[in-house]
Amino acid sequence: MAKIAPSILSADFCELGRDIQRVSTADWLHVDVMDGMFVPNISIGVPVVASIRRHTYMFLDVHLMVEKPVRYVDAFARAGADLLTVHLEADMPPQIREALRAMEAAGVKKGIALRPITSAEAVLPYLELGVDLVLVMTVEPGFGGQKFMADQLPKLQAIRRYIDRYRPGCELEVDGGVGLSNARQVEEAGASVLVAGSAVYGAADPAAAIAALRG
Ligand code: DX5
Ligand code: ZN
Repeated sequence: MAKIAPSILSADFCELGRDIQRVSTADWLHVDVMDGMFVPNISIGVPVVASIRRHTYMFLDVHLMVEKPVRYVDAFARAGADLLTVHLEADMPPQIREALRAMEAAGVKKGIALRPITSAEAVLPYLELGVDLVLVMTVEPGFGGQKFMADQLPKLQAIRRYIDRYRPGCELEVDGGVGLSNARQVEEAGASVLVAGSAVYGAADPAAAIAALRG
């Protein structure tokens, strides 16, 4: 059974505490950090993650959609993130490796993320480095509520094969346009964590939506 990680990007930020409470039956809480450079949108930053940490014991899965993320690893780790994910497209490989080392030193779990354009093979050197999670974007990062890109499913299957072979136990997370209509398909393709923003927060009963997504 896949883990469900509601994305608070679809929450009401004036009622963030209430909206986190509403999804407390989920496995993880997905926090989208956007810098207006790596993606065209700006969302939330370090102080908000620190406030969330004081409010909940949920596992904080922090998705950094920022340029040169190595600059922010320590700050988000100190703010209370449990796992940090950096995009492979956000810096050169040595700096991505440095970001992963900084996560290790800070005691947080290490994730890498791929835009739709990035191929499955790009994860191979990082599986060897011992990442804990690979995030596959199934929309162009930047906004919630976009349409799921089914053309990413073969990539998901390929990464599942790589994980099983080289880094069993590594989580495979799918982010973007995931809902009831495709959750089973995504899971069958090998996902172990499903991010869902609009599918959870757009539902009349978020807890029921989480249960339905779990299958
Ligand atoms: C998009 C974010 C996603 C987004 C998902 O850049 O990374 O986490 O919130 O939202 P939905 O599930 O609505 O596509
Ligand atoms: Zn995300």
